[in-house]
Amino acid sequence: MATHAKPLPRVTIYATGGTIAGGSTSNTDLLFYTAGSVGIDTLLDAVPEAKQYASITGEQLLNVGSHEIRSSDLLDLSKRVNQQFAENLSDGVVITHGTDTLEETAFFLDLTVSHPQPLVVVGAMRPASAISADGPLNLLQGVSLAASSKGRGRGTMIVLNDRIQSAFYTSKTHANTLDTFRAVEQGSLGFFLNAKPLFYFEPAHVSNKPHFDISNITSLPRVDILYSHQDASSDLLELAIERGAKGVVIAASGGGWASPALEAAAEDLTTEGFPVVFATRTGNGFSIKQAKFGTGAGLINAQKARIILMLALASGYDQQQISACFNTG
Ligand code: SIN
Repeated sequence: MATHAKPLPRVTIYATGGTIAGGSTSNTDLLFYTAGSVGIDTLLDAVPEAKQYASITGEQLLNVGSHEIRSSDLLDLSKRVNQQFAENLSDGVVITHGTDTLEETAFFLDLTVSHPQPLVVVGAMRPASAISADGPLNLLQGVSLAASSKGRGRGTMIVLNDRIQSAFYTSKTHANTLDTFRAVEQGSLGFFLNAKPLFYFEPAHVSNKPHFDISNITSLPRVDILYSHQDASSDLLELAIERGAKGVVIAASGGGWASPALEAAAEDLTTEGFPVVFATRTGNGFSIKQAKFGTGAGLINAQKARIILMLALASGYDQQQISACFNTG
């Protein structure tokens, strides 16, 4: 009796640009290339082997440097991914993205996609035109992970440099090197043997991770990040509010301290019900804040705290509900 081969998992790739799609006239140029210059077909042509793992559909959503990604792009991306999974159109999704703000997009997706199918964000540190470009292998590994049942129920994952990492905890830590994405305290979820994903643990859940239903959200409010330093004035904070910010994150020193002028302004704003969140600018650790000055971001860094605050404000949360979103760990 004839046996039928099992169909390959269906993986959708959404391409958004970045260095993984970067090009230069010189193959030794690792600095002055143009991010987002080649399309999804060229990326896939570099790794025909990906077709061994999945039946692939590629879609070019954007082709930009990731510093150009807007909050409307995040909403669009998350809604597309939710639809792919809710309507059983894909078994896994891969997003190719510039590494500079990759952690923000991956974090947004982690908080807003509510399905167990593997969701993988892939970037590269060397442009497609470079000697030893890292993009093709990263993409191959990303597709293999998105096609694997082992990737289910693990939240949004980031793949670069042979590692599988949790989008919730991982950040870009170096401007140039391949091993830039790290979760210094939490570590990685696993790694790849060739293109085969190997996880260290069964799926684990981030403690008290907030989830936001964005199905009815059409835009996100402006939230600005201000950097605290010795002698920082409150001028930029006041200007941010004047120009329309609905919330502010302060990248504060140590465990969440800002200059006296910023703390005094934050106290006034908090009393009036305006949300101010204090994250630590150190890169790691827990930011705590007395209620009178605003909310401490806990383990969340400033760029991710901004994502949470935008989502919380768009969801109509009050101060107490906003504070609860940062009660992770
Ligand atoms: C970008 O973020 O778009 C450029 C840098 C990179 O992808 O590594």
